[in-house]
Amino acid sequence: MEQKNEERYWWKEAVVYQIYPRSFCDSNGDGVGDLQGIISKLGYLHWLGVGAIWLCPFYPSPKVDNGYDISNYFGVDPEYGTMEDFKQLVEQAHALQIRIVVDMVLNHTSNEHAWFIKARSSKNSEDHDDYIWRDGSPETPPNNWASFFEPGAWEYSEECKQWYLHLFASKMPDLNWESMRLRTKIYEMMKQWRGLGVDGFRLDVVSCFAKTCGLPDVQPVDGATHFAGQYFMNRPRVHDYLKEMRQAVFPSPDFMTVGEAQGVDTQTAALYCDARRQELSMIFQFELMELDSGPLCKWEIVQFDFLQMKAIFFAWQTQLPTGWNSLFWSNHDQPRSISRFLNPPKALEQRCAKLLALSLHLQRGTPYVYQGEELGMSNMPFESKDQLRDYESLCFLRDAQKQYGFDEETAWRAVLKKGRDNARTPMQWDNSPYAGFSACEPWIVVNPNYKQVNAKAQAEDPASVLLFYRRLIALRKTTPLVVYGYTVPLLQSHTAVFAYLRVWEEQQWLVLANFSAQTIALERLGLPARGGLVLTNIGQETNPDCLLPYEATVYRVE
Ligand code: GLC
Ligand code: CA
Repeated sequence: MEQKNEERYWWKEAVVYQIYPRSFCDSNGDGVGDLQGIISKLGYLHWLGVGAIWLCPFYPSPKVDNGYDISNYFGVDPEYGTMEDFKQLVEQAHALQIRIVVDMVLNHTSNEHAWFIKARSSKNSEDHDDYIWRDGSPETPPNNWASFFEPGAWEYSEECKQWYLHLFASKMPDLNWESMRLRTKIYEMMKQWRGLGVDGFRLDVVSCFAKTCGLPDVQPVDGATHFAGQYFMNRPRVHDYLKEMRQAVFPSPDFMTVGEAQGVDTQTAALYCDARRQELSMIFQFELMELDSGPLCKWEIVQFDFLQMKAIFFAWQTQLPTGWNSLFWSNHDQPRSISRFLNPPKALEQRCAKLLALSLHLQRGTPYVYQGEELGMSNMPFESKDQLRDYESLCFLRDAQKQYGFDEETAWRAVLKKGRDNARTPMQWDNSPYAGFSACEPWIVVNPNYKQVNAKAQAEDPASVLLFYRRLIALRKTTPLVVYGYTVPLLQSHTAVFAYLRVWEEQQWLVLANFSAQTIALERLGLPARGGLVLTNIGQETNPDCLLPYEATVYRVE
């Protein structure tokens, strides 16, 4: 493999910590997280050892989609602070060797963005072309596409008497990337953020920037879903845009970029992140996240299959030799990983959280830790719809019957399992009221398990999930094998054990993770001989001849 010529960059060596500013830490007691709150926790992040923070949007926004609907690309929403706060955050993070990656939401804006307000004012406005418009009668949308959040992807503007496309909420019009004038405005804005010292961008739904010419109707799946991904995901033009953006905004490969790329496989992913193509550093792919969804939509829940999970991991580990992987179990759009992928009995929750951590972080790629994952935070037992804040979940509950034929009970169960608010409850800092997140009632309920699951208690407990994450992160820093080694899949058809080798120069490590509640004997599996122990999630009980329930252990191979 490539290891000899491997190019070294900080973003391959760092662990990235994802912050959802609204739910991380509230400094001024209004129940909403903010930038000063984040600044107050930099010491914690430094202690944990993370090399970069990815900040979800904090820009001015009416917050239909909690900030992914941006009304001003260069500013800070007053709820989160000021530009001065942002500059302070960058400066203080840098002083601790923590880099800052900001979210760029460039597929769409809010309908309150000045560009949109001008664009819709008239067909003749010079900004009109910044968005995607179609003529037609106000009764009939231009095509039959569904949006990600709503049954239809078009909204009629009374002002300019045309329809505009929105792949997400109707208040989030899609930008027209075909317009060179628009692209130039976007690049100028991105350069302003670079000028403030940010070290990287996470590009929201990057795979959707380019749409198929003519925007044709889609053949519905099962007569029900009009998801038209084939016409707007991973279209060839997106790569022209990214190459152009790279040259205009971040020509240096040291600047980190990670694109959120729905609908890619290892082949199409390489088009985005093959280093020779000069587009992005890496992408987020969603093959794993789609494993427990049926063909209709993410809300159609199917049993998650362990062998498929392994096949996906191994494919990405071995079939992207000139690209770089991102590794994640969770983010602000996904349910909590511990509830989703294992859902163990209470007594084994901590062990399982460590199993997930170890089996992911030892793979080749950049690991992302989503706030609270390092504590083993789990899904929220929401009791009623009024506790939900997520636009996507609320739209789904409203339309589930009509759109997919789900009854109320089935729809609610789906939201409990998959709803995005599971990941958006406040970060659990300590066992004081509101989990130490805020001095007053937060914008969204706190998970009642905060008395047991919180950062303060775990920082004092050597056997905690938090300290385990800290050790894992430290291991990456001291061991080139963890970063640059290549991966050899093992036991591909074993139904309980996830096993692989990492190989770097003369060194080999064996990673073993038992995803089942059974003890597994290892003698007859033909594994390489276990040498010294590197790290385990089960303390002193490790026995190289077997794996205890949910054990995850790394050995040196002598
Ligand atoms: C991305 C974001 C998600 C948002 C959507 C629209 O998928 O991660 O939170 O709702 O884009 O911007
Ligand atoms: Ca606040």
